[in-house]
Amino acid sequence: MFVIRGGQPLAGTVSVSGAKNSALPIMAASLLAEGPTTLKGVPDLVDVDTLGHLLRALGSRVERLPSGDLTFEVQNTRANLADYELVRRMRASVCVLGPLLARRGAACVSLPGGCNIGDRPIDLHLKGLTALGATIRVERGYVIAEAKRLKGANIYLGGPFGSTVTGTANVMAAATLAEGRSTIEAAACEPEVVDLGNYLNAMGARITGLGTPFIQIEGVERLTGVTHTIIPDRIEAATLMIAAGISQGDIRIENVRLDHMTAVVEKLREIGLTIEPSGNCVRVRANSQLKSVDCTALPYPGIPTDVQAQMMALLTVVSGISIVTDKVFPDRFMHLPELVRLGASIRREGNCAIVNGRHHLSGACVMASDLRASAALVLAGLAAEGESVIRRIYHLDRGYDQLELKLNRLGADIRRESDEPKNMPASLILNVSDHAEDLSDPTHELRGPTWLKRLGINQRQD
Ligand code: EPZ
Repeated sequence: MFVIRGGQPLAGTVSVSGAKNSALPIMAASLLAEGPTTLKGVPDLVDVDTLGHLLRALGSRVERLPSGDLTFEVQNTRANLADYELVRRMRASVCVLGPLLARRGAACVSLPGGCNIGDRPIDLHLKGLTALGATIRVERGYVIAEAKRLKGANIYLGGPFGSTVTGTANVMAAATLAEGRSTIEAAACEPEVVDLGNYLNAMGARITGLGTPFIQIEGVERLTGVTHTIIPDRIEAATLMIAAGISQGDIRIENVRLDHMTAVVEKLREIGLTIEPSGNCVRVRANSQLKSVDCTALPYPGIPTDVQAQMMALLTVVSGISIVTDKVFPDRFMHLPELVRLGASIRREGNCAIVNGRHHLSGACVMASDLRASAALVLAGLAAEGESVIRRIYHLDRGYDQLELKLNRLGADIRRESDEPKNMPASLILNVSDHAEDLSDPTHELRGPTWLKRLGINQRQD
């Protein structure tokens, strides 16, 4: 868990890591290559380790070099099983489906199952691969896909909430080795899909239309391993920009692709942040009164759903009413009740959250439910008065490379501690007594029964 003492305006310089959502599909696509692949700028994340395990299980040699680069080389092409234990831990494991099918003619990949950010089917992935000629059946929780050689086809990948990012990655990767020409209509335009396409083209694929909803792929016989640099993480960059805003800070962020973040930058300027680009760096300052805004998460080039929770955290401390809508994952609001625990005033209506911004949040113990919800709670903790405890921070480690170290270097006060408070049985029921001391008391220890007693909380067992 994190223990955050809020209130410090952030200042200084910080650098953004490589994009997780580029690195994962690109790592999966290394299964297509003959010869070694080297990836530069792969962030050091639990999700990257998880996919590394899966690729080893699928016959690849995977190594992190002292330089930080990752290398991959397929050594054995007999394995084609992506087991439930790995896929349930990380949905992006499904990105091995297209590459396995195209290169090995068969894949057996677990269906990912439930997710805290809402319903996440993979029907569009299966529709696209079926159009390429695969026979696909779902048995005992696994997708079993087979094809002697895939055949080029016209594929429409639009769904009820727009296109699909990893679905486009899967189908595009598979089509690179198909016989003939494929067209993906309503393809995802996200920079991470473009990065994957550029990597595949460097390996010898013939893909055009990247970054548009119409991607054309001319199938080739083979792809060869190359060295590729992962693009900077636009979601991490946005999170750091919001950190500057919510802490009333002034920071310089390095390794940023602002051209991947136009909608976010425009929205943050509308809120009142000063954003000054220079080369691949940007200075972000909160030097004026911030304004409430409406903010809608949409497929690229709109504001990403992966920034929706962090934007909401910022808007909780901006006076006035803001409406935050998510049109990609309409149920992605698990962070909302936790922000309320920190003193925010937010009401949900369908895929919208109505935020009644105030200037004041106060430290509390909250629970992270997913990666971006964790980031939102960390941001709110930076602004909250007193101490906040964010539990289940392992979600954050899946997708942010050393976020707390980066924020601490900017002047934040974040301590990582072991997760569950000791001596606190899971079946505890807590009653806050009328005599609770001030919860923001800076001297209290956030630990077990002593702490509870000090806060005037009586504990009883079921
Ligand atoms: C990718 O997930 C990202 N993950 C997510 O990042 C991100 O939130 C999401 O795209 C949207 O931008 C990776 O890139 C590894 P989708 P993905 O398929 O590909 C519906 C993070 O925090 N849909 O583009 O799984 C779906 O339910 C994360 O880093 C179908 O209906 O998302 C959703 O409403 C989490 N059928 C919408 O499309 C399908 O077959 C977009 O989902 C597939 C998706």
